[in-house]
Amino acid sequence: MTKTVLLTGGAGYIGSHTFVALREAGYDAVLLDNFSNARDDVPDRLEIITEAPVTVYRGDVRDRALLARIFSENNIDAVVHFAALKAVGESVEKPLDYIDINVTGLTALLHAMREAGVFRLVFSSTATVYGTPEIWPIPEDLPRSYTNPYAFTKLTCEQILEQVAHADPNWAFATLRYFNPVGAHQSALIGEDPQDIPNNLVPYIAEVAMGKREALRVFGNDYETPDGTGLRDYIHVEDLARGHVLSLTQLLTSGESHVVNLGTGTGSSVMEMLAAYSRAVGRELPYVNVPRRAGDVPVLVADPAKAEALFGFRAEKGIDEMCASSWAFVSRRRNG
Ligand code: UFG
Repeated sequence: MTKTVLLTGGAGYIGSHTFVALREAGYDAVLLDNFSNARDDVPDRLEIITEAPVTVYRGDVRDRALLARIFSENNIDAVVHFAALKAVGESVEKPLDYIDINVTGLTALLHAMREAGVFRLVFSSTATVYGTPEIWPIPEDLPRSYTNPYAFTKLTCEQILEQVAHADPNWAFATLRYFNPVGAHQSALIGEDPQDIPNNLVPYIAEVAMGKREALRVFGNDYETPDGTGLRDYIHVEDLARGHVLSLTQLLTSGESHVVNLGTGTGSSVMEMLAAYSRAVGRELPYVNVPRRAGDVPVLVADPAKAEALFGFRAEKGIDEMCASSWAFVSRRRNG
């Protein structure tokens, strides 16, 4: 029988790609989103891509009455919880908002799930729970820490899930630690669409390529890395979405919790990403060297072995495909 999955934050960047991957894998999915960081036309675009109607609930994940209604109107088997705030810098300014939306959002959802008798949840976590790691590639059992309120909320959520699972064996959770998701769907209909000035590297380069920003500011070129710039594990968002499907299927079939990294195992520098994006656009994109950004770590690269061993996940797409798909998406959007 077809399983139905609720995606909180399902109109967002990773949520929308996961929606498509779930549908392709034979799941049905229902979206909940408050559209605070997603465009209103995302559901229409998802209907075009998947050639089927999309059920969308517009609202806040902390709204217990709305959650109860969603569970009563749909036969939900599991939840994938994306809805959260995610900008590190903003979290330093507004820690309470981050705690409220990210932590209270999770607990509201868990209450509603328990009341509805739904005990399977996939949780969006982040490599940032590794703090300032001394080693790489990073295995899942490295001690966790946080260096900003955003990371604090994600680590707290991981710990809440551990406590809840420990207290009640009905629950099973998949905790997915994302590295750096970039790129866009092959249709170029959905992709990363920041509403403000982009914080992250690839959306910023995209705006340089579009002529909206003058030059990429390279935050530090004196790290102990091959070219002196920060090294990250960039993962194509379509690979990441597929990772969710495999993780969810594993969770539903085994009934056992798991915690895995979703990354490629390969580090790319800021200069390598700029070069890859320049190849996608067909011209050299300008950059300037500026001092290091506060809070950045030199290297963050996943050990991806556990996800492969547990449910056969292996990222397939490289940085050229990531940058080409990002450019296809932003160029298409610019042209309406
Ligand atoms: N960078 C620049 N210029 C920019 C933006 C970024 O040089 O304008 C550099 C950063 O210094 C870093 C790299 O590009 O070396 C990647 O930076 P991002 O901001 O794209 O990503 P981060 O690795 O800092 O953080 C991201 C998410 C976090 C998440 C983390 C987990 O923003 O939410 O990945 O790896 F926790």
